[in-house]
Amino acid sequence: MVNFMKKKIAILTSGGDAPGMNKAVATIAQEANKLGWETFVSLEGFKGLYEDRIKPVNLRLVDSSSNLAGSVILSSRFPEFKDDKVADVCVANLKKHGIELVFVLGGNGSFAGSKKLVDRGINVLDIPCTIDNDVSHTEYTIGFVSALTACVDTIDMLRATCDTHGNTMLVEIMGRKCSDLTIAAAFACNVDYIITPYNVKSPDEVVDIINRIKAQPNKKSALILITELIYTGKDGEQIHLNDLRKYVEEKTKIPTKNHVIGFVQRGAHPTAIERYNADRISRHAINLAKNGKYNLAIGIDGDRMVETSINENFNRVENEKKVHEALKLINVIDNK
Ligand code: F6P
Repeated sequence: MVNFMKKKIAILTSGGDAPGMNKAVATIAQEANKLGWETFVSLEGFKGLYEDRIKPVNLRLVDSSSNLAGSVILSSRFPEFKDDKVADVCVANLKKHGIELVFVLGGNGSFAGSKKLVDRGINVLDIPCTIDNDVSHTEYTIGFVSALTACVDTIDMLRATCDTHGNTMLVEIMGRKCSDLTIAAAFACNVDYIITPYNVKSPDEVVDIINRIKAQPNKKSALILITELIYTGKDGEQIHLNDLRKYVEEKTKIPTKNHVIGFVQRGAHPTAIERYNADRISRHAINLAKNGKYNLAIGIDGDRMVETSINENFNRVENEKKVHEALKLINVIDNK
């Protein structure tokens, strides 16, 4: 039987913030309020569960921030949650407040964390929120489109100046191990080349690529996008793009500049479509909860809402089909 009984729910945002997160928080809280459910927020994600910073939602605050980037209920990375004893404390705190269902807003790492709540008797609904788009069950995560828009705006500006001077421009894009932002920005801006975790190039290969691009009569400049964390040192630390810039400039003798787009991708203004998607994913999650359906991750597939069991592996870069799709797109740019 459908259970419309009063529920106590919590919402948390976890990992790197993503534009549109606030819209999702607001929709979940508003819809829950209409149903007469009691809503809490856990400040700073899983960390807030551990420290018992679980507070009644401030509906006015979440409403008024629904068009803003960031997370008004704060977010954090909390690797300590992997420890079973830490997870036990989190669940004890949730139970103390009588909370039976948690909406987890985050990326694939946060979804892995949510399984630990389920194992301990708390129901969960996962909402995909990350600029990286590194979650496999959904076409787009909340945050991706706004971050992409920030990339496109920046690349357009960079293109204007490097075309004027005939420069080479190396541009770093976020995404951790996922190349989706880089690939989408490349098609949107018609860039000359991309280097992603799937087609890593040595500095000498980058030199050859630039020489090849510049040899084309119609090319004024060479603009190359590079996914972050490709060039790392012995300790896994990122080597600054400036080092690669110096190397290729010396070898090609072409003035070469570098630009790291950086955190404006995370803090980008949530676009209209982002807010629309955040809203419909969140409404769908509430409907599932209303009908007693839990322990699912919600996603978008075209104009359809999809749900997947939280027991799946959500890591997009470990998903053969998604990797194959990415490789096909990289090949298109490679062969231009
Ligand atoms: O996951 C979002 C993201 O912005 C990644 O693209 C990036 O690698 C990472 O977060 C940076 O994380 P932090 O803010 O913890 O340095």
